[in-house]
Amino acid sequence: MNPHIRPERPADTPTIAEVTRLAFTYNGGIRENEMIGEIHASGRFLPDLSLVAEVEGQVVGHVIVAPTELRGDPEHPERPRRVLLLGPLSVLPDFQRRGIGSALIRSVLARLGGRPEPMVVLWGHEDYYPRFGFRRAGEFGLRPDTPAAMVYPLRSDLSSYAGLEMPA
Ligand SMILES: CC(C)(COP(=O)(O)OP(=O)(O)OC[C@H]1O[C@@H](n2cnc3c(N)ncnc32)[C@H](O)[C@@H]1OP(=O)(O)O)[C@@H](O)C(=O)NCCC(=O)NCCS
Repeated sequence: MNPHIRPERPADTPTIAEVTRLAFTYNGGIRENEMIGEIHASGRFLPDLSLVAEVEGQVVGHVIVAPTELRGDPEHPERPRRVLLLGPLSVLPDFQRRGIGSALIRSVLARLGGRPEPMVVLWGHEDYYPRFGFRRAGEFGLRPDTPAAMVYPLRSDLSSYAGLEMPA
C-alpha cells in the first residue's frame, strides 16, 4: 500500500487522537495521546516532522518527532543533550502490516537533513526499528542498555553523549 504522507494540520488533531486511541489497544492510547497533546501545546512542536499517512483521503497513520533532552550527568550540566524523540507512531489496526508505519518512518528520516540534533531516539519494538537504521542505544553508551531503547545516529561520532540517559 502506498499512502500519501504529509505534515499534519491543526484540523487533523481529533483524527490523530482517534487513530492513536485505536492503534494502542493495550491502553486505548491514553498515555500516547497525552504525549502528543504535550508536544502540541509546547514550543517543541515541529510541523515538518509530524506526519500523517492518508489512504484514499482517510488519515490511517501518524507519527510525531519533537526535540527533547537526554538526561543525566549532573556533574557536567553544560554537556549538550538535545536530541529528537520519535513517537508515538500509530497505524489504524485495519491498515497495519501494509507498509504504512514504514512509510511514515522513512519519510521522517528523509526530512532530517539540516537538523542540528545529533540523533533520533525512541522507545520501541526491537524487531521493528533496526530495519530503518535504528540501533540499540547501549551501542552508543546511552543508558539504559535495553533492547527497546534505540538510536538513529545523525553524526558519525556520538561519543560525547556516552553515559547520558534516554528521555522518558
Ligand atoms: C507498530 C506499527 C506502527 C507498525 O506499523 P505497520 O504499518 O503495521 O508496519 P509495516 O507494515 O510498515 O511493517 C510491518 C512489519 O513490521 C513488523 N511489525 C509490525 N508491528 C510489529 C510489532 N508490534 N512488533 C514487531 N514487529 C512488528 C513485522 O515484521 C511486519 O512485517 P510482517 O507483516 O511481514 O510480519 C503498528 O503496528 C501500530 O500502530 N501498532 C500499535 C501501536 C504501536 O505499537 N506503535 C509503535 C510503538 S513503538
